Amino acid sequence: MRIRAAVLEEFGQPLNVTELELAEPRAGEVLVRLAACGVCHTDMYTASGADPSGYAPTVLGHEGAGYVERVGEGVRSVSPGDLVVTLFSPQCRECIHCRSSETNLCLAIREQQNLGYLPDGTARLSRDGEPIRHFMGCSTFAEYTVMPEIALAKVPSEAAPDRACLFACGLSTGLGAAINTAKVKPGSTCVVFGAGMVGLGAVAGCRLQGAERIVCVDLSPERLELARGQGATETWVADDHTVARVIEETGGFGADYTFEATGLVAVMRQAVEAARMGWGLCTIAGVAGRGETLDVIPRWLITGRRICGSSFGGVKGRDQVPELVQLYLDGKVDVDAFISHRIGLDDVNHGFELMEHQDGIRSVIEL
Ligand SMILES: NC(=O)c1ccc[n+]([C@@H]2O[C@H](COP(=O)([O-])OP(=O)(O)OC[C@H]3O[C@@H](n4cnc5c(N)ncnc54)[C@H](O)[C@@H]3O)[C@@H](O)[C@H]2O)c1
Ligand SMILES: [Zn+2]
Ligand SMILES: [Zn+2]
Repeated sequence: MRIRAAVLEEFGQPLNVTELELAEPRAGEVLVRLAACGVCHTDMYTASGADPSGYAPTVLGHEGAGYVERVGEGVRSVSPGDLVVTLFSPQCRECIHCRSSETNLCLAIREQQNLGYLPDGTARLSRDGEPIRHFMGCSTFAEYTVMPEIALAKVPSEAAPDRACLFACGLSTGLGAAINTAKVKPGSTCVVFGAGMVGLGAVAGCRLQGAERIVCVDLSPERLELARGQGATETWVADDHTVARVIEETGGFGADYTFEATGLVAVMRQAVEAARMGWGLCTIAGVAGRGETLDVIPRWLITGRRICGSSFGGVKGRDQVPELVQLYLDGKVDVDAFISHRIGLDDVNHGFELMEHQDGIRSVIEL
């Protein structure tokens, strides 16, 4: 079928919204008619050429939600008409990682996905007979996409796709960091560094877990205002004294849980140092630049602080994204507050500009 899609033709150039060919889903694959897609930093990062593992041409986009149109042979878990959220982090339910409760890093299709192909090593996207690669296994800046069944979470049909799509990446990452990875305990003190989509999600996750004190730290007063809306009990503008202030205001000990959601290694270090002596847990969700390292004084660890990383919030997508979407349907997460702009597919480059200027949290493409 012919579809319209936003193609990264060349690094550093605006995306080209054009017509492509999309082949029918093969065994284990699903054709999805996309309804909405968030514009995320990872899309822009890849478009810039800064990601050494990036490739072009490809159709970007990975925060999609839409409706199942047709299914390939053997697909049982979704059927036409189902509302689905795309998962760049799939869940096969069979690999050693999927069978473990310790991790969400499914091993089933990683290699081909990283190369830009569907699990059988081929692409469904093409132009004039030349294959076009899939991005993060999703390629959702498009009217339709073909994805593996194991990379689609079926979510409640009453969810609005423009909200549901935010659970495909940043929001689930933040919520999951607090709920799954850190497993924040009721009554605790939490400090969240960064108030973008991920940090705000972590604030909401800490609130849902029953944290008593939730401090959100960011450079932007506007974003800190949004953190209040998600449940931050205090908001601080970041400065050189943030760590000292956390220690001082927690009786000299530090916070029970800290979260890093900036991608900056200097802030990661602050998050480690602001964690409590004895049992403080620092959860790192930000993605640092290639080659950067985290500088930590070992004594901080010996004295009982722990550091862990969190990919997609430790969320096992097919099982847990529906649960997170249910939280929004139950009125427990204010998703509307994250949507700052609604744009059409043709305006995708404008979506990147808005993000560059930190104008709003998320632009959502409506298809
Ligand atoms: N782990 C995962 O699976 C996963 C998924 C999605 C995104 N990410 C990463 O999470 C990070 C955050 O993503 P986002 O979409 O929320 O980004 P974002 O750019 O919208 O938010 C980052 C925030 O950090 C703030 N900030 C900058 N310097 C700061 C400082 N010194 N102290 C405190 N705050 C500071 C910025 O003002 C901004 O509000 C990125 O690194 C992103 O790549 C990780
Ligand atoms: Zn993303
Ligand atoms: Zn798996």
